[in-house]
Amino acid sequence: MRRITSGLLALLACIAAFSAACGDPVYDGEIAALGGESDGVPVGEFHRAGQPCVMCHSAGGPASGAAFSVAGSVFARQDDVVGVEGATVAMTDTAGSSYTATTNCVGNFFVRRSDWDPSFPVLVRVWKGDKSRTMQGQVGRERSCANCHKDPYSAYEKLSSVGHVYLYSPDDAVPPASGSCAVNPRVGGTK
Ligand code: HEC
Ligand code: HEC
Repeated sequence: MRRITSGLLALLACIAAFSAACGDPVYDGEIAALGGESDGVPVGEFHRAGQPCVMCHSAGGPASGAAFSVAGSVFARQDDVVGVEGATVAMTDTAGSSYTATTNCVGNFFVRRSDWDPSFPVLVRVWKGDKSRTMQGQVGRERSCANCHKDPYSAYEKLSSVGHVYLYSPDDAVPPASGSCAVNPRVGGTK
């Protein structure tokens, strides 16, 4: 009887969390395809820069503890995937509610669902100092910037693979990356 009850509870929990907890093979495969943790990068706010954070940080995902509503990473340039620290990611949802997040020293930012749970679509602007970039389109429902902003940039898949988010143009003087970051702020770099 006890076993039946706990099985039922697990099923209900899985239904409540929608698909992800139910052993969806496509979802599990997408997570596996991201690979393991990088050497020298502790699991936490500095890990997996450039990856679709909310794929894991959501109800039923492997990091479901404090689900994120939106998350991503901001890098220096199209050809230099080093995190920009202290960039502001300003977001406004369809109900007019706004929220700003600040990137850490690897360029990562994340919004906990408990802090702001936007009604999509959401408008996004990224800025630091006098450099600013505005996404012209709206984010319709994807919670991870990297669902679209992934490398390599593809001219053929423009709407689904626009390359990583970056702030500076080739002519801009890029401020030096944080020297006090606990991990190497360059994706793929070692420390
Ligand atoms: C492949 C799955 C996966 C991806 C992708 C991922 N994480 Fe995590 N993350 C985890 C796991 C697992 C933990 C440890 C368990 C936990 O704390 O919930 C964790 C822990 C964390 C923590 C500490 C726990 C907390 O809630 O404060 C932060 C912060 C974090 N990740 C941020 C990010 C950010 C930002 C990104 C994207 C740039 C990201 N993660 C991408 C799986 C992932
Ligand atoms: C649904 C796919 C999608 C998602 C999700 C998405 N973007 Fe975008 N983004 C695009 C596309 C396509 C463009 C280029 C056209 C435009 O500006 O709308 C773009 C452009 C941008 C630009 C302007 C780039 C430039 O060169 O001026 C910034 C900045 C940006 N996005 C940041 C973000 C951030 C931060 C997030 C996460 C909060 C995000 N985007 C989520 C598709 C997406």
